[in-house]
Amino acid sequence: MSLLELTGVTRSVRLPDDRLLEILRGVTLSVDTGEHVAVVGRSGTGKSTLLNILGLLDAPTDGEYLLEGVPIGRLSARERTRRRGRDFGFVFQQFNLLPGRTALENVAAPLMYAQGRQFWRRTTLAAQMLDRVGLGDRLDTMPEKLSGGEQQRVAIARALVRGPRVILADEPTGALDVETGQEVMGLLDEIASMTGAALVTITHDLAVAARAQRHYRLTEGVLVPVDLGGAGHEWVGDVPTLPGARLPVNPGAVAGVPELARPVPAQVEP
Ligand SMILES: Nc1ncnc2c1ncn2[C@@H]1O[C@H](COP(=O)(O)OP(=O)(O)OP(=O)(O)O)[C@@H](O)[C@H]1O
Ligand SMILES: [Mg+2]
Repeated sequence: MSLLELTGVTRSVRLPDDRLLEILRGVTLSVDTGEHVAVVGRSGTGKSTLLNILGLLDAPTDGEYLLEGVPIGRLSARERTRRRGRDFGFVFQQFNLLPGRTALENVAAPLMYAQGRQFWRRTTLAAQMLDRVGLGDRLDTMPEKLSGGEQQRVAIARALVRGPRVILADEPTGALDVETGQEVMGLLDEIASMTGAALVTITHDLAVAARAQRHYRLTEGVLVPVDLGGAGHEWVGDVPTLPGARLPVNPGAVAGVPELARPVPAQVEP
């Protein structure tokens, strides 16, 4: 049994002019514990929509999503929120840290929703996590005083502090220079494999994608496996050089704070 298993998943929305926009079309994907999977594709092909579905921020219109063998359609809204906070860590292109809160407060925030020991020890756990990403001496620094690479390290610490089973990274290096991006990905990879978490990375950057064990391309809502070794040239041709500017998630979103982490409300009915 896979950790995550999508079968024939579609996501469509009804546009104001009554057209049906099919964002995802029959996506089948399974991800196992400890695996690193990368998804590439042009802007607007449905990558973030796919990630939002995997992270229980959105739901398929049709098809099946099994989370540890359980169809997510069977979970109550409350259980989905609980699983989202407990099992998933999110890393976004724009870091999405809370302004006016220290690095430590940002990392401790998801633990406000945890239970027992994790809740009571949240400050210690957050400090340990920041130490692990190399920011043990910046606990009281405000995000705006940190460099982009450091802010993304804080965001990684926040995504990992509850020990998620799955890390979902949406263009995690999109706002960083190449070298810093590689460092940040190295860190994400390392911590994910140490904790045994699955990692799903969406990226425009081939060097970032190359770190994953399996690679997919999303083209107009259709997900196809790509062989990085054999199909490199064809694949490069389909990947834009500049990351997409849009981020269809509330910029104030915080992993582990489900109310804030929802996509921007749809202007049209799903
Ligand atoms: N709720 C919605 N209502 C209407 N259209 C939507 C909605 N959500 C997504 N879309 C559209 O679906 C398409 C896919 O969006 P998505 O954000 O998943 O793309 P993406 O591959 O992540 O793009 P990028 O690389 O630019 O981030 C886009 O054309 C987007 O405008
Ligand atoms: Mg996107």
